[in-house]
Amino acid sequence: MNVYSAIQRRRSIRRFKQQKISDSSLVKMIDAARLAPSASNIQPLEYIAVNDKKTCAEVFPLLKWARLIEGGDTPEEDKRPAAYIVVVINRNFLAKGGRHEVGAAVQNILLAALEDGIGSCWVRSFNASKLSEKLNIPEYCKPDSVIALGVPAESPVTEPAKKHKMEYWRDERGLLHVPKRKLGDILHRKKYIN
Ligand SMILES: Cc1cc2nc3c(=O)[nH]c(=O)nc-3n(C[C@H](O)[C@H](O)[C@H](O)COP(=O)(O)O)c2cc1C
Repeated sequence: MNVYSAIQRRRSIRRFKQQKISDSSLVKMIDAARLAPSASNIQPLEYIAVNDKKTCAEVFPLLKWARLIEGGDTPEEDKRPAAYIVVVINRNFLAKGGRHEVGAAVQNILLAALEDGIGSCWVRSFNASKLSEKLNIPEYCKPDSVIALGVPAESPVTEPAKKHKMEYWRDERGLLHVPKRKLGDILHRKKYIN
């Protein structure tokens, strides 16, 4: 799969088959994250790989799903993620900031996952203090993001967004629609306003 088609195909997945995600797949995703760009090459990010049932069950209730969908969009018990990668910023490497690094690293994770047939959802709404407690994250590390992973049990579709209407939504069959702004609405040639 070439990079551009992976970028086009990737969608956030919130329904998963209950198939184990291997250690080697997780290691490959974290290796892809490790190689992402980093300002001054400081590389402040570290990763916790979780794919055992007990720890997955501890992480799941700490996450919030798709707040734009009325009533939330929490996966049913038999559709929960089979693995997680928790991205932490090690403050001993970088006292403040690191969000741009997280962005670049997480996108590498999402695309590396896709290449292995693994769906993903980048989750930033979570209970950070409880997660730190459950995963023994030391106080000098700040958990920034949780990447939920698993073999996809849904195939969301993209559609052109109507101006200023970006909310994703599920139809009566449960199909997730993800509006994306049209190229003509975001591409400015030569100057922002000509
Ligand atoms: C920084 C960031 C934080 C996000 N946090 C959450 C989250 O807490 N829960 C969730 O269900 N989705 C979360 N998402 C996923 C977005 O809802 C999703 O990317 C968006 O709806 C567009 O869909 P797409 O990823 O399929 O293109 C997050 C995405 C980003 C980039």
